[in-house]
Amino acid sequence: MAMARSKGRQLLLALALSSLVAIASATVFFEERFEDGWETRWVKSDWKKDENMAGEWNYTSGKWNGGPDDKGIQTSEDYRFYAISAEYPEFSNKDKTLVFQFSVKHEQKLDCGGGYMKLLSGEVDQKKFGGDTPYSIMFGPDICGYSTKKVHAILTYNGSNHLIKKDVPCETDQLTHVYTFVLRPDATYTILVDNVEKQSGSLYSDWDLLPPKQIKDPEAKKPEDWEDKEYIPDPEDKKPEGYDDILKEIPDPDAKKPEDWDDEEDGEWTAPTMANPEYKGPWEPKKIKNPNYKGKWKAPMIDNPDFKDDPELYVFPNLKYVGIELWQVKSGTLFDNVLICDDPEYAKKVAGETWGKNKDAEKAAFDEAEKKREEEEAKDEPVDSDIEDEDDDADADDAEDDSDSEIKADESAESADSKDEAKDEL
Ligand SMILES: *[C@@H]1O[C@H](CO)[C@@H](O)[C@H](O)[C@H]1NC(C)=O
Ligand SMILES: *[C@@H]1O[C@H](CO)[C@@H](O)[C@H](O)[C@H]1NC(C)=O
Repeated sequence: MAMARSKGRQLLLALALSSLVAIASATVFFEERFEDGWETRWVKSDWKKDENMAGEWNYTSGKWNGGPDDKGIQTSEDYRFYAISAEYPEFSNKDKTLVFQFSVKHEQKLDCGGGYMKLLSGEVDQKKFGGDTPYSIMFGPDICGYSTKKVHAILTYNGSNHLIKKDVPCETDQLTHVYTFVLRPDATYTILVDNVEKQSGSLYSDWDLLPPKQIKDPEAKKPEDWEDKEYIPDPEDKKPEGYDDILKEIPDPDAKKPEDWDDEEDGEWTAPTMANPEYKGPWEPKKIKNPNYKGKWKAPMIDNPDFKDDPELYVFPNLKYVGIELWQVKSGTLFDNVLICDDPEYAKKVAGETWGKNKDAEKAAFDEAEKKREEEEAKDEPVDSDIEDEDDDADADDAEDDSDSEIKADESAESADSKDEAKDEL
């Protein structure tokens, strides 16, 4: 009743406000299109620097793009760690919709690695930001081999990280895509890729942030007379007379006493035995459907005494930084157009103005680049086969083997590394 009334009131309010929507404006907590001056807003971390494992960011529009001036930041060195972050005025998303959006392009044909970003809370020493820095939200695509191609959405609650339980597919090509995470005050969420909804639902059901609301009653017991056998022996069925007299084994009727058998020396001859084809095993009555069958017994669900609702389940009270923290085996991931705001419509508009406006030109540039690459490869090939013809066969085989094994070693190193990282993340 109360709920229905308040919903009705909300609806009226919404109708009354709808005329104002045109002039309502989004609150933008942070927006970065990586134009001039971006370096004053972003802090490169010293994480992994003393081990010479900190990768350089390249400020670039990439090898193919929708416009040479539309730049972002791209990982530029293989086998490196990357950590960079930007600060914005601290805010809480209590009673507000939170929208977190950015674009990512894996130019390197990523076969194992992530393209996610993080929102951090409280005070963070940005110069030390790294893999161990606690975060509030981690969001974005994650690719590894054929099995992992998903959008990560990890929420930190009560000090631990919780992975989304639903599978959300991500894009795997070498073009720019926009990832959007929307978190609402009614504890619902939506994940969009390129302005298209890929998943939505509730924080209660799609993450294990709280214990379940309901559990199977641990006190409940299956009633003694509960019939959960679908088939029972037919009580009418009777064992045929003489059934038990049928022998399991009988003397082989085809066996013959050997000619040279000497009863006196060898003892009395008996035929070897064989399985009796008449024998059908111990008697069992035939099965009939149980007329009292009630189905499989299930414990009734009860309210979980350990469940305590948290009406602020969705709240991150001290959001203050956005960061990228990655390990990359193969570099080439380009981030751009980072947005944190309270209005999904505004985010949609930004995605349209950036990715949407550029995507066709980018695709054309990519196709052109691919064509060039294929032509180059085709040009190289006849030269290769000439050399192979001149070489003796054994040498050519050796060379092929070598290059194969190199690729394999690389691949296994990559997947091992990414597994290590995945462990660290979780
Ligand atoms: C930065 O990216 C551009 C475009 O792909 C490339 O030409 C350039 O070599 C890159 N610079 C570094 C330092 O990687
Ligand atoms: C928060 O974490 C503590 C320690 O792990 C635990 O005892 C407590 O039950 C958790 N609270 C909620 C609401 O999950």
